[in-house]
Formats: sequence, C-alpha cells, structure tokens
Amino acid sequence: MKHDVTNLKLAAAGQKRIDWAERQMDVLRLIHQRFARQRPLQGVRVACCLHVTTETAVLASTLKAGGAQVVVCASNPLSTQDDTAAALVTYHRIPVFARKGENRAVYYRHLNTALDTKPHLTMDDGADLVSLLHAKRPAQAVSVWGSTEETTTGVVRLRSMERHGVLRFPVIAVNDSKTKHFFDNRYGTGQSTIDGLLRATNVLLAGKTFVVAGYGFCGKGVATRARGMGAHVIVTEVDPVRALEANLDGFQVMSMAQAASHGDIFVTVTGNASVIRPEHVARMKRGAIIGNSGHFDVEIDMPAITRRARRSFVVRPFVRAYEFAGGRTIYLIAEGRLLNLVAAEGHPAAVMDMSFANQALAAEYVVKHHRTLEHRVYTLPEALDQTIARLKLRVLGLTIDTLTLAQRRYLAGWQQGT
Ligand SMILES: NC(=O)c1ccc[n+]([C@@H]2O[C@H](COP(=O)([O-])OP(=O)(O)OC[C@H]3O[C@@H](n4cnc5c(N)ncnc54)[C@H](O)[C@@H]3O)[C@@H](O)[C@H]2O)c1
Repeated sequence: MKHDVTNLKLAAAGQKRIDWAERQMDVLRLIHQRFARQRPLQGVRVACCLHVTTETAVLASTLKAGGAQVVVCASNPLSTQDDTAAALVTYHRIPVFARKGENRAVYYRHLNTALDTKPHLTMDDGADLVSLLHAKRPAQAVSVWGSTEETTTGVVRLRSMERHGVLRFPVIAVNDSKTKHFFDNRYGTGQSTIDGLLRATNVLLAGKTFVVAGYGFCGKGVATRARGMGAHVIVTEVDPVRALEANLDGFQVMSMAQAASHGDIFVTVTGNASVIRPEHVARMKRGAIIGNSGHFDVEIDMPAITRRARRSFVVRPFVRAYEFAGGRTIYLIAEGRLLNLVAAEGHPAAVMDMSFANQALAAEYVVKHHRTLEHRVYTLPEALDQTIARLKLRVLGLTIDTLTLAQRRYLAGWQQGT
C-alpha cells in the first residue's frame, strides 16, 4: 500500500491517542456500528482532505467500516499529527499522504495523489481538493458523484463556484448543519484556540487585553473562553449586527485601528484576508502576541509585516519573534496558520463527534442521492441534523420533553391569540 507519512514507528503512540478520541465519539461509534452492518458505502472510493487528527482517523475508519475505499491527505501543511498518520497506515490499512510541516509543493503532490485514486466522493476542509480538481483536473470532475465540506471558508469558496456556474458536482455543506457550526465552531474553536495559545506561549491570560477579530461562531467561542480565563476582551467586526451582539454580550467593540494599541494578545477568526496589517502592528505594544484560528494563513498580512521587520527568529516552538526598528518585538504564533491545530490538537473529540457524524451521514447521503442532486451546494436535511442532536443527547444521558398533541396543534394553528 502506497503512503507518505513521516515515521511509521509512531504508529503505536498514534493508535493510543485514536482510541482515546474514539471513546469520546459515541455518536460516530453508533454510525460506525450501523455502517459495519449495512455497508452503505460498499465499493465507494472516498478521498478525504482533512486535518489529519485522531478524530479524523475515527471518521476514516467509520467510512471504511461502511465499505468505502478511503485515502487521506492533509487539508493544511502544519496540522498533521504524524503519529495519527502512521497509525492509520499501520493499523487501519488506510493510505495517508500527509507530513506535518510539508511544503506547498508536497502539499499539492499529496492532494493530487489522493485524486489519482479516482474518488467517487471527495471530503474537504477548506475546499482545496474540489478547487484543485476544477482548476487542474477538470476532466475528472465528471466521475465525481459529489463532495462534502467541513468549514465556513470552504463553504464560502464553494458557494462562489456555484454562483459563477462552475461547480461540476453537488456538495454538502457539512459546516452549515446546526450540529456542526453551533458546537464545533463555537465550543471547539473557543477551547482549542485558548489551548493552542497556552501551549505555544504559556502566558497568563488573567488581566490581559485579548482582541478577537470576527464575532461569528468561532469568534464567539474564543471571546467567551478568553473572558472565562480572566482576560478583558475586545471584539472587532465589520458586520454591524454581530458588533452589536458582541457589545450586548458584554465585550468592548472597536475598530482594529483602535484596538491595536490596547491589546496584549490578538486572535483573528474572520475567514477574511489582511485583517491585521502593518499599520496595526506599528501601533501594538512591545511584546504583543498575534495569532490566527481562521482557516487560511491570510488573516494576518505576514508578507507585508515581514517586509517591515528588521529580522525574525523562532523563540520557542510555534512562536516567532518579529523585531522592528528601535528593538520593538511582537510575537506570531504558528506562522499565522490555524493555531489550535498547529500548536495544539484541534477540537476536543466530543465536539468533533457531531461534526464527523455529519460527514459520515453526508457521505451516505451523496452516495444515495447523487443522481438527483444538481451541481449546487446543499445543506444536509434538517431531519439528519435532528437525528445527530438526539443521538448526542442520548449518549449524554439527557432527556427532553416531547410536544403533546395539543401543543403541536397550537403551534400549527393561527386562530388562538389574546
Ligand atoms: N480553527 C478551527 O479549527 C476552525 C474551526 C471552524 C471554522 N474555522 C474557520 O474560522 C473562520 C471563521 O469561521 P466562522 O464559522 O466563525 O465564520 P462566520 O462567518 O460565522 O464569522 C466570521 C465573522 O468575521 C467577520 N469579519 C469578516 N471580515 C472581518 C474583518 N475584516 N474584521 C473583523 N471581522 C470580520 C464577519 O462579519 C463574521 O461575523 C473561517 O475561516 C472558518 O473556516 C476554523
């Protein structure tokens, strides 16, 4: 079996961590058991371009249990857990093409290798596989039944392809399921961003001024968790409604130009480009820390900032110092790539449980329905979202009420008022 991973000797350690994650992924385990019985993906070739983490390993083995032939490559050059990659190859017999720290050329070689397996279904986190397929291998698009997309930025790119009329197969926007973005983006990114920041820097958050750029689902999570650690949180936004929401949630709201001189720590989670620019860095305090947890490494304009710096050097793993004229230094985490996956382990398994339950059900859905789906971006049917939420409640041992017949009639009617 072909593969390209850093070191197969890491497999045993990786498998222990996969087992640990699996114990917290009860919903996916139930789907795994059903897939093993029903084999809904029998003979289906699936190329997964995802962060190669322990949770992804649990998803890949679930797809395989469903009968799929799975290949895995990384959706980010720095987020691969090399021990997990080794375990997938060694114990799960799933070919993996991913090495932590791979350069851009190797990254794309790995994506191309995954596409060489002629997948019926592709799975993306950021839409790189779909975009590569459309841009460089368009003839292959006809043999793809459909794709699934994990993250906000990927969905934004795919909707743009849909709008421009270039999308060649249907895509399920897994990110848009409520059981994905309400939980993964908010609680997952919230906790794991703080985790990455602390593992990289070990700074005290209490009493610090913490600037969060973007108050979407991820931003809400990061801001809330930073406040929980005792930081004073400032939110920057471009959307007036979300800015108001941040204000009424108790955060200070201001522009980045204003926040720049107040912050000790800055985290971007906007999905947008050049949110922190040289003019902001020029106003920052000596020793300010900047990082990004949005999908791509474009939120902090590092090329422009690097040009203005006198020199840059690594001060500890995942922390690079930029020294400017006069000796003022600021610190960048994880080279501006999503710091929760680069400097920590990404989201906790318990939250990825729901995200990847959505991925597994989306794969099954595409296989069942691809003939009737148009070349558009779809959300999974509400009923599947509800099923995942109910399963999660069940494994958590939580009971909720059921609508009575009278309540259903009341909600469906219009006659009863004051
Ligand atoms: N690190 C992770 O593990 C992880 C997990 C999920 C999503 N993501 C990524 O995080 C990013 C945000 O995702 P989301 O679900 O919160 O998206 P979202 O659309 O809910 O929120 C993004 C927010 O950023 C704001 N924004 C845009 N440009 C801005 C600017 N210049 N300044 C300030 N605010 C700006 C938008 O108005 C919006 O409110 C995306 O790139 C997504 O793919 C990362």
